[in-house]
Amino acid sequence: MQVSVVLGKPQPKQREFMLAKAKYVAFGGARGGGKSWSVREKAKRLALKWAGIKILIIRKTYTDLRDNHILPLKADLPDSLAPYKEADKAFCFRNGSRIKCSYFANDSDALQYQGQEYDVIFLEEATQFTEMVFNVLKACLRGANDFPKRMYLTCNPDGVGFLWVKRLFVSREYLEGENPDDFLFIQSLVDDNEILMRKNPDYVKQLDSLPEGMRERWRYGSWDVAEGQYFNEFRRDIHVCEPFPLPKEWRRYIAIDYGLDMLAAYWIAVDNSTNCYVYKEYCKPDLPISMAAKAILENTEPNENIYAVLAPPDLWNRSQETGKSKALLFSEAGLDLTKSNNDREAGWLAIKELLAQDAEGNSRLHIFKNCPQLIKNLPELLRDPKHPTDTMNEPHEITHSPDALRYFAIYWVSPSLPTQEKRVKYRKDHLEDYLNAGSEEIRKLLIKKYGGLPEL
Ligand SMILES: Nc1ncnc2c1ncn2[C@@H]1O[C@H](COP(=O)(O)OP(=O)(O)OP(=O)(O)O)[C@@H](O)[C@H]1O
Ligand SMILES: [Mg+2]
Repeated sequence: MQVSVVLGKPQPKQREFMLAKAKYVAFGGARGGGKSWSVREKAKRLALKWAGIKILIIRKTYTDLRDNHILPLKADLPDSLAPYKEADKAFCFRNGSRIKCSYFANDSDALQYQGQEYDVIFLEEATQFTEMVFNVLKACLRGANDFPKRMYLTCNPDGVGFLWVKRLFVSREYLEGENPDDFLFIQSLVDDNEILMRKNPDYVKQLDSLPEGMRERWRYGSWDVAEGQYFNEFRRDIHVCEPFPLPKEWRRYIAIDYGLDMLAAYWIAVDNSTNCYVYKEYCKPDLPISMAAKAILENTEPNENIYAVLAPPDLWNRSQETGKSKALLFSEAGLDLTKSNNDREAGWLAIKELLAQDAEGNSRLHIFKNCPQLIKNLPELLRDPKHPTDTMNEPHEITHSPDALRYFAIYWVSPSLPTQEKRVKYRKDHLEDYLNAGSEEIRKLLIKKYGGLPEL
């Protein structure tokens, strides 16, 4: 008996996706490009070509799974060829192939797939899942057969999975053990779906009229602006520049965030029109204070003439064991710190002020290309939904560079906040240091260290 299957005709970007041979292929990156269509078509073709192949299609919700995959596949695949078994949520082909459709309402649903084997997995709307789901599914991609072993991901630039999808497929920053050749991103925008553009021109108009931010992501596939992104004014083309030799007379600062987990240090120059240039970056984990101070000093030229090394006030807290503060230890290691301010909201606003564009599209903050960590982390910071004026502290590793910039920005944009002249209440031991200081010079040094004149 002859049975016929409806196979659609892919458009150029969809063809590219279907022919891609990388182990992990991400497709889309914007709304309406024809991603779900391509998943169905690729799954059908694979099931027909490789008798016995095991395929898994995953979505976040059952409704999306049913509307985008189960119902259209039922319409395309005759029962005599691939009946749909409701109990298994699977299309069971006569040739032994299987397309299983599944949904993970919670990311922990992925764990039930641990130990299972699939030859090809489609993770639809991958950015709606955390990296844990991707890792669990990666381990399911196996089988003692000659079928291709691949994972196809479709995505839009938003959702909880924004960062890991961006890292692997867009910024292409790999960790040890990850092979860059395994990852391929094929971008498609709604413009690549001519069929939709022709049949439903209003859809493009809808995308065009979305609020800024959402429009950048869904219409133009921008990965710079995440949903909930704190610094949504950050633009690579405006805020990142090629390095150039800095005039000697520009005032220079270093701003640091220091913890044992990470030292983030930035060298920043300010021109005569108060434009700020972040021109050097040093980020390293696990450095004790002596090594951190040494690294900063070694990365500073003798004639660099640094005006102040700005640091968060908590470095002035005394350790209960040694009685010494981290700031003092830095000082003993040859690096005198200047106390900045840790008012988070005012600090973030100060950065926003530097990032803001004037009528001509110019901003006051410029980051040299050779500061990749800051360029990466600044747009990654997310708004804290519980305190919308603040940023999330998670993932913690992306906070160090923006924090260092914040200590500079609040000092620079709002110098009235941490003034040196302000009278502050010294702690008893600080006051004792001050009163016992042998000379005016030492007293000045202590004022610099503890921030402000003591309240006597
Ligand atoms: N090659 C094609 N032939 C016929 N119709 C197509 C083709 N590609 C896409 N379409 C149609 O275009 C519309 C949008 O495609 P699809 O749903 O696959 O986009 P999407 O990228 O998944 O969208 P979303 O971002 O909303 O999930 C659908 O109606 C789909 O059937
Ligand atoms: Mg879709």
